[in-house]
Amino acid sequence: MELYDVMRTTFSAREFTDDPLPDEVLFRILDRARFAPSGGNRQGWRVIVVRDARTREGLAAATVPAAKRYAAQVQVGESPWNTIDRTKVDAATIARTPAPARLIEPVLKAPVVLVIGVDLKVVASMDSELERVGVISGASIYPFAWNILLAARHEGYGGTITTLATAQEPAVQALLGLPPHVAVAAVMPLGRPAKAITRLRRKPVEEFAMLERWGGPPLQAGRPA
Ligand SMILES: Cc1cc2nc3c(=O)[nH]c(=O)nc-3n(C[C@H](O)[C@H](O)[C@H](O)COP(=O)(O)O)c2cc1C
Repeated sequence: MELYDVMRTTFSAREFTDDPLPDEVLFRILDRARFAPSGGNRQGWRVIVVRDARTREGLAAATVPAAKRYAAQVQVGESPWNTIDRTKVDAATIARTPAPARLIEPVLKAPVVLVIGVDLKVVASMDSELERVGVISGASIYPFAWNILLAARHEGYGGTITTLATAQEPAVQALLGLPPHVAVAAVMPLGRPAKAITRLRRKPVEEFAMLERWGGPPLQAGRPA
């Protein structure tokens, strides 16, 4: 596929056929994904390849609490799990909100689930002393995670970066035997997509790119340099 086509059509696959994803193909995918950039080229990603049914159930159970809160916040029009605006949804409402199946079932049904860890002993977290939620340690991992999805697409497979289970990170660490300094960056179901989505909904450039400063005029196509 042409690069721009891949970029425009690599969607989040959550439903899969029964086709297996053999280790041979998975190896090839990771062997291409490893060329991702990372801060200082530290390559702090670690990957656990999960096929075991009980481990999947553990991952699904770890996903449920965050998925319930996510759904409850969406229902009242909030931007779920953001760290700026406190949620107005109370614990009882979250408790009675069902976890959406589309957020839970992929880890149970995908041929393979990758748990992508980040070794915090090697990744530079340049924002760790700021008084806001950290974003930089993830920045050394998600290019690699995205490369997995691009390579998977090239091989005829697909998947999704998911993060809901990280809200229960200690449970996931215990489930997989991860040491405490290996954080859970993503849980990624992978397989052959049951259907193809080729038209992705994304905001136009003019809505998020502005010239020179916050609030500046939008970047336009065809503007002379
Ligand atoms: C950092 C990150 C976290 C995400 N977490 C989840 C998740 O926990 N569960 C899930 O089903 N999808 C998750 N997604 C997938 C997004 O929902 C998806 O990228 C977005 O809706 C666009 O989907 P599309 O590419 O199919 O249009 C996540 C994506 C990213 C990049």
